Amino acid sequence: MIPDLGRPLLFVNAAQVVTCAGPARARRGAEMRDAGVLTGAAVAVVDGRIAAVGPRDEVERRYASADQVDCGGGVLMPGLVDSHTHAIFGRPRAEEQEMRASGLDYMEIARRGGGIHSSVRDLRARSEDELVSMAVPRLQRLASHGTTTVEVKSGYGLTLEDEIKTLRVIARVSSIVQVRLVPTFLGAHEVPLEARATADGRKNYISLLVHEMIPRVAEQGLARFADVFCEPGVYTVAESREILGAARRAGLGIKLHADELRSSGGAELAAELGATSADHLGAISDDGIRALAGSETVATLLPGTLLFLGKDRQAPARALLDGGAAVALATDFNPGTSPTPNFPLILTLAVSQLRMSAAEAVLAATVNGAAALGLAGETGQVAPGFRADLALFDLEDVRELPYWYGDHRCRRTWVDGRHATG
Ligand code: NIG
Ligand code: FE
Repeated sequence: MIPDLGRPLLFVNAAQVVTCAGPARARRGAEMRDAGVLTGAAVAVVDGRIAAVGPRDEVERRYASADQVDCGGGVLMPGLVDSHTHAIFGRPRAEEQEMRASGLDYMEIARRGGGIHSSVRDLRARSEDELVSMAVPRLQRLASHGTTTVEVKSGYGLTLEDEIKTLRVIARVSSIVQVRLVPTFLGAHEVPLEARATADGRKNYISLLVHEMIPRVAEQGLARFADVFCEPGVYTVAESREILGAARRAGLGIKLHADELRSSGGAELAAELGATSADHLGAISDDGIRALAGSETVATLLPGTLLFLGKDRQAPARALLDGGAAVALATDFNPGTSPTPNFPLILTLAVSQLRMSAAEAVLAATVNGAAALGLAGETGQVAPGFRADLALFDLEDVRELPYWYGDHRCRRTWVDGRHATG
């Protein structure tokens, strides 16, 4: 069947078209200074792809019969690419926010059986249908803020059945929501409590991950990436290397939760393995910064997480950027450490806390987010040949995207040229 790609579209009357155009790979260093801001420009979309970008009269002449979309003086830019979320979960964990306020630390809550363990108990008790109906409105909220591609991790199941159940939920949700989803297997999100309770439980769970879960997930085509929470108290560097080695052999791309709260060599491991991304990096070492800067691995920063956990430190974004690493931003949307669907708010934190420029933040949330998902050739740019994944914001200047913090300025989005939200 020929997919219905709709009639050609011509986007006109944008105060700015922010193209992020350039090489189809992660940007770094001086390449992050210019997000490609055009005025007086129009964008033509044919068959779900960008066909032309340029001065309005020129593009309008070539696409005279296209349906016009009036951007009403707003900012038109690539849809945001959120390359790190844990969007499939059951109940929210509001009680933990208060526990932290009263002095309990995130890892201490986990040691007492809360945190990720609490979401695991909850998810295991829910049906696939129930999880689908909880996830759909949450993903729609993410999309409503201008996000057009979302990576979604499993990791609250931690048994073969419950992890597969979660990945199936992602596949089902993907056929319901307009936003594009990229599934990641995170069976190594925690060591399940039942495995922590016996002497060789931990070893057996890792063996289950390596010999059964990863091969099965890959065989069924349920995930594009595998990820590990590499952190003191969760998985060690050696265990992470073993698990990710199995993922690589099974044909999955690899990602890492690295040096989130304490430095343990996670960033160095990501660079050594040629991981697609190393995420968090709140406690990355100087060696880790050098390792990422000298690698193709995208350093994905999640400033919402450290803010929400009440930490007084953020990832050393300037050292990473100035050292030449490819930096992306993402929400880390999850019930424990970052329950925000608002990606533009993450850009606010990037500028005000991580000291990034607005152009760096925009490129980190588009082109480099796409690179963190192996999609740099597909999405993240308003340039000929790229997917027509677009977001229109009620702003006159793209620098207002991080400026109006906590606001909801996204008017409409399109995914593959199809109207998605607004
Ligand atoms: O990215 N660090 C591990 N995973 C999540 C938190 C998940 C949770 O607390 O439920 C994170 O911060
Ligand atoms: Fe995470």
